[in-house]
Amino acid sequence: MTRAWSPVETIRRKRDGLALTTEEIENIVRGYVDGRIPDYQMSALLMAIFFRGLDEREMTDLTMAMARSGDMLDFVDDARVVDKHSTGGVGDKTSLVVVPLVAAAGAVVAKMSGRGLGHSGGTIDKLESIPGFRASLGPEEFRRQVAEVGAVIAGQSGNLVPADKLIYALRDVTATVDSVGLIASSVMSKKIAGGARRLVLDVKAGRGAFMTDREAAVELARAMVAIGRKAGLGVVAVVTAMDQPLGRAVGNALEVAEAVRCLRGEGPEDLEELCLVLGSHMLTLAGLAPTPGEARERLSSVLRGGQALERFRRMVSAQGGDGRVADRPEEVLAAAPVRAEVRAERPGWVRSVDALAVGRLAMALGGGRHRKEDEVDLSVGVVLGAKVGERVAPGEVLATVHARTADQAQEAAAELAAAFDISGEPVAPPALVLETVS
Ligand code: URA
Repeated sequence: MTRAWSPVETIRRKRDGLALTTEEIENIVRGYVDGRIPDYQMSALLMAIFFRGLDEREMTDLTMAMARSGDMLDFVDDARVVDKHSTGGVGDKTSLVVVPLVAAAGAVVAKMSGRGLGHSGGTIDKLESIPGFRASLGPEEFRRQVAEVGAVIAGQSGNLVPADKLIYALRDVTATVDSVGLIASSVMSKKIAGGARRLVLDVKAGRGAFMTDREAAVELARAMVAIGRKAGLGVVAVVTAMDQPLGRAVGNALEVAEAVRCLRGEGPEDLEELCLVLGSHMLTLAGLAPTPGEARERLSSVLRGGQALERFRRMVSAQGGDGRVADRPEEVLAAAPVRAEVRAERPGWVRSVDALAVGRLAMALGGGRHRKEDEVDLSVGVVLGAKVGERVAPGEVLATVHARTADQAQEAAAELAAAFDISGEPVAPPALVLETVS
């Protein structure tokens, strides 16, 4: 007679540092989703994993067991289909630029994005600041837009990876979020269930990121690439700096306006650079360019030629949004009623701009959520006047707060001043790409 599987035994084995079998991992995931394994046993196992870690095979098994816990989407296996995912940061509006950019160069992107939670923003909230934009598309509508426009960004729909929803909620309240194995399998399960076959990951490292230190971010990047490879995906991970916000705008409508400027070829420099780097890997994975260098040349020409902006307009219009946002974003997007400026008190060079502090401020102004059900004010946020390495004169604007009320604007401006560190000596602009793992 075979003995019945015991969750207690699995918890004990992981607690003692042993690798879990494929069968144990499947039993755990299935049992937790079915409600047969209670929260206290799952919590104990997550804590054991937090301390003991998962090897590559265990991570892949966990990823696949979670991916299979709900619907598995399957796209026509067109080699041009490629996806992109960021682990989240402050001012990260890359998807708004890179999706239409690579689509204009021949790739096909069917992207599912999330909403902001905590100090980091979400692509869906940003897009919803465009009047009329619909992030919720039925499967037929989603497929039609993929075929006709080659670019779609929609919210996650259907019963995709229920295991991750449940396990993530439990990790959030048991201090087990920041584990490389658990993050890697959570992210990759959603990408695999969403039908991705080729994927570029932007793994953020620094003050405003999940992984504050570079080594941990590289470890996470390696783990995700390894899982992807074992699951048969083409994956490249780029580890990028998130010590200061990306670009200058932080806040939903403000970021859309900045993305439109970038699609017009008007920068900001770091945002354009990151979009070209990620886009080059996407185009190469999709087989549309022999090397990232050649892909980059093609993308630069599509950006300068206006085709990327035109593709953005088509994508937005196809999803019900006001396409005039591509011409006159400031007339179409909601603007906050009050502005307050933070000015430099002394001359110098910007040494750092604390991304976490700026992200928290934008959230406190009403631009983010503390809980999933919170409403967001799409118009508020912060626009940086100076970034790391730039020289400032006394009285020069370091940042502008966009707020609902004068009191909120003044309070935020006072706090924002503390997010800037000004040096008396010149400061070199920081590196954006820290490492590439493929
Ligand atoms: N993002 C995810 O999707 N999962 C994690 O565990 C962390 C960040």
